[in-house]
Amino acid sequence: MRRPIVVGNWKMYTRAADATILATTLRDNLARLPEAEIVLCPPAVWISEVLAVVGRGRIELGAQNMYFEVEGAFTGEISPLMIRDVAKYVIIGHSERREHFGETDEIVNEKTIAALEAGLVPIVCVGERKKKNNPAEPVAELKAALEEIPKKRLTDIVVAYEPVWAIGTGDNAAPEYVARVINQLREVGLAETPVLYGGSVNSKNIAAYAARPEIDGVLVGGASIRSSEFVKICETWARVKHFRSQA
Ligand code: PGA
Repeated sequence: MRRPIVVGNWKMYTRAADATILATTLRDNLARLPEAEIVLCPPAVWISEVLAVVGRGRIELGAQNMYFEVEGAFTGEISPLMIRDVAKYVIIGHSERREHFGETDEIVNEKTIAALEAGLVPIVCVGERKKKNNPAEPVAELKAALEEIPKKRLTDIVVAYEPVWAIGTGDNAAPEYVARVINQLREVGLAETPVLYGGSVNSKNIAAYAARPEIDGVLVGGASIRSSEFVKICETWARVKHFRSQA
């Protein structure tokens, strides 16, 4: 049974006080939702602060990026082992990293391998740039990201299907379309791997994604830094997926 997951990607938002307030509100409101794994990915400088607020257990933490070397003279970079000390997950190959920071498929692959070696759960992001009915691009990105990773390790990763045209635009992808692409992604060997959807998810459209059995979770950007929105998203996901798993 693949686990339901809701990930909040805070991106480069929140000053220190905002991060603490947001984390406190989410901790207090999400305590009674054991049916879904909830992962917060604050800016790296606040991960420890957020950990101090939420503690270990109900809410998991993740980083938004990492380097593939474990230590060394790499000024400004963050090692997988450093992240492992404070978090369980790490987002790898987000389209904003690919677009603004030149992350290639090869780098995404190296980072995915390094994350697994460090005992982190990589959330590997793939998605086509332009709006078109063609899953070939995300499938090719996924194959490249998973190169040389043994099949048995595929249960230790999470994949996020995020069509780039849907991210931050309000133009969320139709759930039926997402389900179709996810079915194609699963053919790469992801039968037991949680696959998430991301791209303009909010409290109004969340139920339609939750209703699709192909979609195990969501990766939420903009709506994840508005506490009431994110709480509603988590509540809907936990409720629908919980009922489904009991059916
Ligand atoms: P969005 O971002 O929810 O703001 O579209 C999703 C993401 O970038 O992961």
